[in-house]
Amino acid sequence: MKKKKKIISVVGARPNFMKLAPVELELTRFKHLFTHKIIHTGQHYDHRLSKVFFKDLDLPEPDIFLGAGSGTHAEQTARIMAEFEKVVLKERPDLVIVFGDVNSTIACALVCSKIHHNGGTVPLAHVEAGLRSFDNTMPEEINRIVTDALSEMLFITEPAGVENLIKEGTDRKKIFLTGDTMIDSLVLFKKKFDESRVLKKLKLSEKRYILSTIHRPVNVDNRQNFSKIISILKSVSAEALKHDPGVKIVLPIHPRTLKMAEKFSLLKKLKLIKNILISEPAGYTDFIKLLKECRFVITDSGGIQEEATFLKIPCLTLRDSFERPETLKIGSNTLCGLNEELVLKKTAEIFNGKYKQGKIPQLMDGKASVRIVKAIKTRLF
Ligand code: UD1
Repeated sequence: MKKKKKIISVVGARPNFMKLAPVELELTRFKHLFTHKIIHTGQHYDHRLSKVFFKDLDLPEPDIFLGAGSGTHAEQTARIMAEFEKVVLKERPDLVIVFGDVNSTIACALVCSKIHHNGGTVPLAHVEAGLRSFDNTMPEEINRIVTDALSEMLFITEPAGVENLIKEGTDRKKIFLTGDTMIDSLVLFKKKFDESRVLKKLKLSEKRYILSTIHRPVNVDNRQNFSKIISILKSVSAEALKHDPGVKIVLPIHPRTLKMAEKFSLLKKLKLIKNILISEPAGYTDFIKLLKECRFVITDSGGIQEEATFLKIPCLTLRDSFERPETLKIGSNTLCGLNEELVLKKTAEIFNGKYKQGKIPQLMDGKASVRIVKAIKTRLF
């Protein structure tokens, strides 16, 4: 019988959890080959940003919790590194898997690249590799570039990611175009979304609300941009009300956004937008249900652009740069920046049935985690 290999998956922040769940499930199918441990860095610690996701995604409790918490980028990254180093030295994994582009991702990638055992550094796999916004002012872009440079297995969600890595001189043997495990979760948990009672709880009717999520530092840590977004949402509300007098705007508010709204004294202005419903951050099941049934979504998130594409929900993205080109070229996404006129034009198109239909990209087939685990099996055995 083959000796089992030890794999450690690291997650820490909200957008990591739905990327891990399908990989965890697939690794469990091969538990005669792998011991799999989940490490939670504690970057996100609020119940609503973390624990509820484990429950919704049927994930087991993390094996180890590092309790890193918030702080400046350096403080947070350094705390995660110091704690994760102890774990790697004790556990001696055969492979570490990191996900996405958050500070937990880069922190643990750096740790693996500096520890030597079995005649080399700790092998690292990056799920959601190769994405590039070409905007180095985004902390996520730095996290992506560094993590990819340190990884020996790069699992890529869409063809542009392969091109980016080839241009950067990456060894083709490290590159695996597998698709997106976040989409696997949309396929896996469909029944749960259908059973969510969130619309009832928030007194919403299908297609009679606009969903919005805003949390990017460039948008909320800057008073001018935050004010501009409030102005955009106010105009969208006015335009939408012309088409549907009962329409609402639902804003599940991220803690960062709430904190900054209070700091800039903008919360009152936000609450004064006609028909706005500011709610707590939603768990995974409820959020996807909200996304599935909304008229359209206005967001500055990366992942929601992909989820909206898969669910064929119009998505207006309040960012200037992008790293997921298929959502724009093939899917239902439009990049609007903070251009109020463009957002209003698109809002009218959506209500008038003139907005683009959008197709589902080929690799959004719910099988990314199967491809990933197959590649890992080949690499480790
Ligand atoms: C992080 C990711 C971002 C991702 C987002 C999703 C990085 C650099 N950024 O941003 O890519 O889109 O998560 O949510 O990793 N806070 C709480 N409770 C928590 C966690 C944070 O209240 O459980 C508050 C704290 O005031 C904290 C702030 O939110 O200072 C920001 O948290 P942080 O982890 O630094 O980044 P996010 O904005 O959440």
